[in-house]
Amino acid sequence: MRLLLINGPNLNTLGAREPEIYGTTTLPEVERAVAERAAGLGAEVHAFQSNAEGAIIDWLQHEQSDAGGLIINAGALTHSSIALRDAVAACGLPAVEVHISNVWKRELFRHESLLSPVVNGAIVGLGVQGYLLAVDALVTMIKGVE
Ligand code: DQA
Repeated sequence: MRLLLINGPNLNTLGAREPEIYGTTTLPEVERAVAERAAGLGAEVHAFQSNAEGAIIDWLQHEQSDAGGLIINAGALTHSSIALRDAVAACGLPAVEVHISNVWKRELFRHESLLSPVVNGAIVGLGVQGYLLAVDALVTMIKGVE
């Protein structure tokens, strides 16, 4: 089982970026932890990060046919990108949206997610642990276990 992990704009600077909001774990550490969690559940992970909307859409379109599920933290594109929403809706994969911070406690512009209506569920505000919970949820969904 192959899972896709997408991180959007500015998440390449995790660890250094506003650590009081996003913590001190770096993106390579997150990707490694996700891969380890998935491996323990019999899944492998293909990870991608880009600051460019089009690059993320191109990568998803390229990878989607060989994948079983998607974990996506689209960063600020969550709140603005109809194109990314359309790509996620069209990819045909079970998908979990992740946000490290609790967007509901933050600025109003972060309260709208264009992705939430086209994913299976979202994990918000639990720090980078949210990515690991997303792996668990996705594998459970794919295997069809409650
Ligand atoms: C974020 C929340 C977004 O509002 C923000 O633009 C990000 C990170 C999060 O993980 O909490 O880049 O997706």
